[in-house]
Amino acid sequence: MLPGFCLRGYSQKKSIDQRVDSLMKLMTLEEKAGQLNQYSGKEVTGPVTGRQTYLLNDIKAGLVGSMLNVRGVKDTREIQAAALQSRLKIPLLFSLDVIHGYKTIFPIPLAEAASWDLEAIRLSAHIAAKEAAASGLHWTFAPMVDIGRDPRWGRVMEGAGEDPFLGSKIAVARVKGFQGEELGGTDAVMACAKHFAAYGAAMAGRDYNAVDMSSQLLWETYLPPFKAAADAGVATFMNSFNTLNGIPATGNSYLQRDILKDAWKYKGFVVSDWGSIGEMIPWGYANDLNDAALKAINAGSDMDMESEAYKKNLVQLVKENKVDVKLIDDAVRRILYKKFELGLFDDPYRFSDYKREQKVMNDPQSRLIARDVAQRSVVLLKNPDNILPLAKTTQTIAVIGPLGKSKRDLEGSWIPQSDTILVTTLFDGLSRKISKSSKLLYAKGCNINDDKDSDFAEAVETAKKADIVIMALGESWDMSGEAKSRTDIHLPGKQEALFEAIRATGKPVVVVMMAGRPLIFDKIADHASAILYAWWLGAEAGNAIANVVFGDYNPSGKLPLTFPRSVGQIPLSYSYYNTGRPVKNLKDIKYKSAYIDSPNGPRYAFGFGLSYTSFDYSDLSLSKSSIKGNESSDLSFTLKNTGKFAGEEVVQLYLQDVVSSVVRPVKELKDFQKIALKPGESRTIRFTIDKEKLSFFNRSLQWGAEPGSFKLMIGAASDDIRLEKTFELGL
Ligand code: BGC
Repeated sequence: MLPGFCLRGYSQKKSIDQRVDSLMKLMTLEEKAGQLNQYSGKEVTGPVTGRQTYLLNDIKAGLVGSMLNVRGVKDTREIQAAALQSRLKIPLLFSLDVIHGYKTIFPIPLAEAASWDLEAIRLSAHIAAKEAAASGLHWTFAPMVDIGRDPRWGRVMEGAGEDPFLGSKIAVARVKGFQGEELGGTDAVMACAKHFAAYGAAMAGRDYNAVDMSSQLLWETYLPPFKAAADAGVATFMNSFNTLNGIPATGNSYLQRDILKDAWKYKGFVVSDWGSIGEMIPWGYANDLNDAALKAINAGSDMDMESEAYKKNLVQLVKENKVDVKLIDDAVRRILYKKFELGLFDDPYRFSDYKREQKVMNDPQSRLIARDVAQRSVVLLKNPDNILPLAKTTQTIAVIGPLGKSKRDLEGSWIPQSDTILVTTLFDGLSRKISKSSKLLYAKGCNINDDKDSDFAEAVETAKKADIVIMALGESWDMSGEAKSRTDIHLPGKQEALFEAIRATGKPVVVVMMAGRPLIFDKIADHASAILYAWWLGAEAGNAIANVVFGDYNPSGKLPLTFPRSVGQIPLSYSYYNTGRPVKNLKDIKYKSAYIDSPNGPRYAFGFGLSYTSFDYSDLSLSKSSIKGNESSDLSFTLKNTGKFAGEEVVQLYLQDVVSSVVRPVKELKDFQKIALKPGESRTIRFTIDKEKLSFFNRSLQWGAEPGSFKLMIGAASDDIRLEKTFELGL
């Protein structure tokens, strides 16, 4: 009897556990090790190379569990067919970095985080998953849930910013968006919470660097989004390139076994990062690939991405009694379980359907959703004289700057299947909105990162002809992202000088900043008439920004991470400790915890973002000013739209535990809501205060609340607290 037939036949009625058991009884040790092996398929689907033959041979021999970088119905069918030639016909998992869209490119994850709009974020991940799944993929290496507090680190663009609470909510939204309610739908893919753990805290913001951190910081700041993703049922985890306190994450059993698999009871599997098992050798943690394989499997890394360490060593390590076969079985079981959940044993080609691929990839609805998410991600940083929104009848508008007509830069990195040609530029977006009698001029002025000002004169002449100038400035797509750390995060090249030249014309200047990270741009911050931080917004960037510029959408984004004044302040977070010598008065900083050449605070704070309307906060009350045990108190206040535009406000609840057994930050985000109000409309907003919100990890890393006083703060930003009250937790 063919084992494959057996698995697809009568066993339908069996539970997945039973089906996995039956299959594992048939597997040789070599085939088990094979399930833990993941290859990149670039060379399988690309030009014929020596390696292609051996990859295909390995697949046919049942020595590969998963492929990354194979996509498209045609290619996935072809490679899956090879896997089905293996003895046990175990299907492959096809995986890819689908980070912010597959065919339809959405805003970069950091931009989406600025929307604080969990439903929009879920929907973005859902569309990405739908397109990826229609292209034969089963698995995305997303979301990246690393906390990022260092804008020198290029990968802040891939995460949700600096805050564990916001980061956890967004992690869950993304997992639900990618996976749907449960695995197995052909419009969904497995998600992957990465990079476990603390990768975002790489020393000095340099990618792949070591991480040294206290248990306190790890547990209260860096682990929560991973825990939230695990609780939300994320199918997989990826470990990381960094060490954590001297131990590479890939060989770290404290992270992968003690925390993830034991304490959190996580049932999915852990894939290594690209080559990270082998990288334990240059770290100086493993002698050779054999030693690296031993350390990684013992530490709980289930699948080996591209190190070939497991493939070459695991069988031997078991035979030599250096690795317990139970560890291999556990890893294989976790992987096979997912293959069953995805329905691949029932139909290995169920994700690879030509008709669905055609239909899903060209759905115009997806672009509309991308536009909506993009406009929600824009943050209005400055608009003191309400120059924005512009009238569509403004006579002459000049678009100036290197990103005015750029397409590729607006997509950022990780754009697997994009048609860059179809990206809407800022110029195109604006030109579609202006009235027939209006004119739109354009001058580039300079390149993003060059040292020439030879084109300034033409830009200045263009500005002089306009009533208003919109400057499109920022980073090129390859200046933020993996391996794109920078020591200098000023606006690159001559762009700030270009701004100065244009400002000297006396024309009002609106700056649209497009970048993958927080940048420093002091002159613009001080002198621009208005600033929109538009990140990299993807395929619909131009249309989305135009909606905001002309008031068809009232900006509602809030910064998901702090914008420092200088690199010297990094890492900088709103959630800092008070110190024993806090600065109370900027004029009196002697022997205080201060800098003598800069204020301590940021240029723009976490949670900050303006609107075309204004919101008034009043009447904070608590149903109980003190609680005990499992009681809770209802906090309420009134939010009123006091301006002329309909708008959305992100109301933020912060809290400080005033005295506790471990020093607590001055402020921690504990809840938020995004509220839409018409002009003049008010609403009562409610938050629940309970023990959970008052809890923290004590010095034994136990989660719990301590009796005493708490400061509750309601703000429009972390540095714009509008209402506050003290509150007691009794014994
Ligand atoms: C990155 C991962 C990514 C992997 C596969 C690595 O370099 O760190 O985030 O998923 O490559 O492309």
